Amino acid sequence: MRKQRLSSKKTGDSHDFLKAHYWNSGQFAHTDQQKGVPCPPLQKPYDVEADLIDLPSPTAIELEQPELNGLLETRCSRRKFTNVPMTLEQLSYLCWAAQGVRNISRSGQAVFRTAPSAGARHALETYLVIHNVENLQPGLYRYLSIEHKLLPIETNPEIAAQCATACCNQQWMAKSGVILCFSAIPYRMAWRYGNAADKLIALDAGHACQNIYLACESLNLGCCGIAAYNQGPMDALLKLDGNDEFCIYLAAVGTLV
Ligand SMILES: Cc1cc2nc3c(=O)[nH]c(=O)nc-3n(C[C@H](O)[C@H](O)[C@H](O)COP(=O)(O)O)c2cc1C
Repeated sequence: MRKQRLSSKKTGDSHDFLKAHYWNSGQFAHTDQQKGVPCPPLQKPYDVEADLIDLPSPTAIELEQPELNGLLETRCSRRKFTNVPMTLEQLSYLCWAAQGVRNISRSGQAVFRTAPSAGARHALETYLVIHNVENLQPGLYRYLSIEHKLLPIETNPEIAAQCATACCNQQWMAKSGVILCFSAIPYRMAWRYGNAADKLIALDAGHACQNIYLACESLNLGCCGIAAYNQGPMDALLKLDGNDEFCIYLAAVGTLV
């Protein structure tokens, strides 16, 4: 039997992204926050004239499985969805579980959401590719976590299939009720943490997605995290500039047999 390798064959691969060399480096003295640059907005601004869609209260829903032990035992990635539409109550609960706002600091400089975030900087935005949710037109929406409302962006009956194609042709995703897409606005994190921001944002996204996994499990919905996507096509689908804001992670969700 061939000997198992314990490290990459490639030499010089320092995996610096995963390491933490910056905390004692003094670089935080030079971040925009330290220089007195005003705090960026807690949430991506939107047209205040836009017609927003109300979501039901997230805590009103009755959970099928409320016990954490049970959720942890049964949670797994599920990729087979039925044509039964998701309810607006379920969608509301998933949005809230992923990024719902619990509190805003008195200074107005920090927001606290259901998922943790390094320094409460919360550099994520949540877009919804809606395919099969009752009372919602298929298309692209943004979850406004502070308002707990939806901002409609575009009606598009093909969007789930287009999203599946952008996700390296994972066509099973086209049957999702909703695909939650996390984008990053790195400056919200870099304003305080400079070069450390990227790793912290990636860690934050993992927390948010795990909340979706557990929320789905508690509602008897299927969920699968998605990192296999092509950057340009996904950013184009979500109408992001790919520089100041870009897609970093997705979660496909649907009803189960
Ligand atoms: C960061 C991350 C990225 C993933 N990307 C994909 C993906 O693109 N497509 C997919 O089918 N599953 C994806 N998955 C699901 C994993 O394949 C799955 O978590 C793994 O097989 C373990 O199975 P479990 O979630 O059922 O425990 C991803 C999971 C994580 C955490």
